[in-house]
Amino acid sequence: MNVYNFIVDIQRFVKEKHNSGLKVGFVPTMGALHEGHISLINRAKKENDIVVCSVFVNPIQFNNPTDLEKYPRTPEKDITKLEQAGCDAVFMPSVEEMYPNKVEDHYDFGDIEHVMEGACRPGHFNGVAIVVRKLFEIVNPDRAYFGEKDFQQLAIIKKMVRDLNMNLEIVPCPIVRENDGLAMSSRNVRLNETERAIAPKIFATLNDAISKKASMTPAEMKEYTLAKYAEIKEFEVEYVEITDETNLKSLENWNECDHARIFVALQLGPVRLIDNVRIF
Ligand code: PAJ
Repeated sequence: MNVYNFIVDIQRFVKEKHNSGLKVGFVPTMGALHEGHISLINRAKKENDIVVCSVFVNPIQFNNPTDLEKYPRTPEKDITKLEQAGCDAVFMPSVEEMYPNKVEDHYDFGDIEHVMEGACRPGHFNGVAIVVRKLFEIVNPDRAYFGEKDFQQLAIIKKMVRDLNMNLEIVPCPIVRENDGLAMSSRNVRLNETERAIAPKIFATLNDAISKKASMTPAEMKEYTLAKYAEIKEFEVEYVEITDETNLKSLENWNECDHARIFVALQLGPVRLIDNVRIF
């Protein structure tokens, strides 16, 4: 596997592959790789001739300086995992390489950026959009792979690609979970033993709520979920939302949409965790 730290080098690599008529799949990450990330690499391998991954902890998408400082960084392990997964090249730029000048871009994604993660983490999606657009322009992939773990991020990136007429396909990939149901996340390593033992209740509670659908309106399901989370003193819930999957608007009735999803963000010890499940 080739490891590139500079833009010109990854660009040359991809250009050569495209000149040979090969399709390039791309998996952007912030590293501290786990099986969730590797599932995206595997999917990209199936659907493309060449797979490129990026590992870059993007400072401008962190609205909390401690979160940025404490974000796990394991570059050597990441390289080994990517090699084992059969990734062809990894792009690991420095902050200076990605942002030689101050970035002033402002994206407007309309309603989808003002709810849930957008409302709780001001500037977050603007930082994501800036880095993902830059990475797409650098790597120039045919397809890019994103996890449904960050469902709102996926919606924002799809919208950016549509709005800017970018010439690539965005491929959504299902959430990979630990055996006990906890959604894999680079931040999980920061949980202590007690917190880690409680964490599966995030997913279990969502499933419990969904199982009551026949007897509840969306608002009642939201209240039920909040009440269940409130029973667990270690959870500090930021939001529970039940929305239409396509526009992320809160639902009043189940018959308003084809697919509904329940979302949660909560603080557990030092870590902010998110999860979501399709209701139907
Ligand atoms: P990161 O959190 O490293 O995630 C990289 C990709 O892996 C994202 O598409 C994310 O949704 C996916 N992913 C993470 N955990 C997953 C899981 N348990 N199952 C399936 N997919 C999972 O998301 C980012 O980085 C950044 O915002 C980025 C897009 C790289 C821009 O900086």
